Amino acid sequence: MEFKQAKFLKGIIRIPGDKSISHRAVMFGALSQGKTWVTNFLQGADCLSTIDCFRKMGVDIQNHGDGVLIDGNGLHGLFKPKSVLDTGNSGTTTRLISGILAGQNFTCELTGDESIQSRPMGRIMKPLAMMGADIQSIRGNDCAPLLIKGTPLHGIHYDSPVASAQVKSCVLLAGLYADAPTSVTEPALSRDHTELMLSAFGANITSEGTTATILPNPELQGQKVQVPGDISSAAYFIAAGLMVPNSEIYIKNVGINPTRDGILQVCKAMGADITYENQHTVSGEPVADLLVRTSTLHGTTIEGSLIPTLIDELPMIAILAACADGTTVIRDAQELRVKESDRLAIIVDSLTSMGVDITGTSDGMIINGGRPLHGAFIDSHKDHRIAMSFAIAALVADGITQIKDADCVNISYPDFYKDLQSLM
Ligand code: S3P
Repeated sequence: MEFKQAKFLKGIIRIPGDKSISHRAVMFGALSQGKTWVTNFLQGADCLSTIDCFRKMGVDIQNHGDGVLIDGNGLHGLFKPKSVLDTGNSGTTTRLISGILAGQNFTCELTGDESIQSRPMGRIMKPLAMMGADIQSIRGNDCAPLLIKGTPLHGIHYDSPVASAQVKSCVLLAGLYADAPTSVTEPALSRDHTELMLSAFGANITSEGTTATILPNPELQGQKVQVPGDISSAAYFIAAGLMVPNSEIYIKNVGINPTRDGILQVCKAMGADITYENQHTVSGEPVADLLVRTSTLHGTTIEGSLIPTLIDELPMIAILAACADGTTVIRDAQELRVKESDRLAIIVDSLTSMGVDITGTSDGMIINGGRPLHGAFIDSHKDHRIAMSFAIAALVADGITQIKDADCVNISYPDFYKDLQSLM
């Protein structure tokens, strides 16, 4: 797909549902008594993989497009699937569902696409094994496919070496089936949607600092969940509005949970003109409309506990930094190497090919901004966030930018190109 420079971007965008929250709404609805009605559910391929897995375990899930109705089977009501569970490209589905499967009374196999089959699962296998789970990597490489034999589980305290909501949520979900409380401490706070939503469904779950604790065997009750817009999807329009000259974009329905809003903190530190309007709460999650205007940006340092709050936005932030005056340093972001692709390597290669002065480090990058960007050939490596980030970079580059496998945006934002076009 080809992209070229934009003269301006103007208009209103309504951001589709949050991917993390959409996954959790289906999972927790499936484990609850009664019905769960999810509105503004993200109809991206990843969330559809979650629906598919729970249908295979006997949960009645009706997808009406505008909303999803889940008739829950209760905590102990899932059935052994007749075939392998396929999580597609979705790390969230794979890791969270593994925690649930570990505590069932059946055995099943779990796999996903090529990317999923190369992503580290040792990070969940280790704490699950500590709980007594029987979980094996079929090829013995700590990656999917996984064979999970459900067993009785023990409550543990787990000191996670990574700030990962997927690891934290996996252990907490296994904790629903344990014989005693389970807690997880992480080195920095990752997104807390599991804690907020499980509590709303009736679980006894508490958080103190970077430790979350869950009590086993709750009666989960179906809920109405209104999914806020995904700040990770809004990120592309936030960046586009700031970088493209003469732009003004009103971005409606953006989830601004403080464990996710790192991009807004960074934009502010870089001198961005962003105003928050209509702040309110939906289903326990803070939401706002954002008015973004073209801004002169300057470099900044991004590190430490800020990193988990903007981990998925780093490809877009690197491009913002390339367009800012001065130097931006990103540290402590080694997790980028084990996302849907090695995002660290791909960002550095792709921005270098666009003429940016960027150096990769073991855990981040150094970007000397302010040089003009040139159109280039970008291989998305079928990574949705790489495709969307570089479609935005193309808007401020001279010449033509070609993006390979651009249709992978389907994973998290099927209407991305249509929404972008509407602003031109
Ligand atoms: C997610 C957590 C993050 C994020 C992913 C979604 C989630 O991964 O990158 O896109 O829904 O819990 P980690 O928690 O492993 O960093």
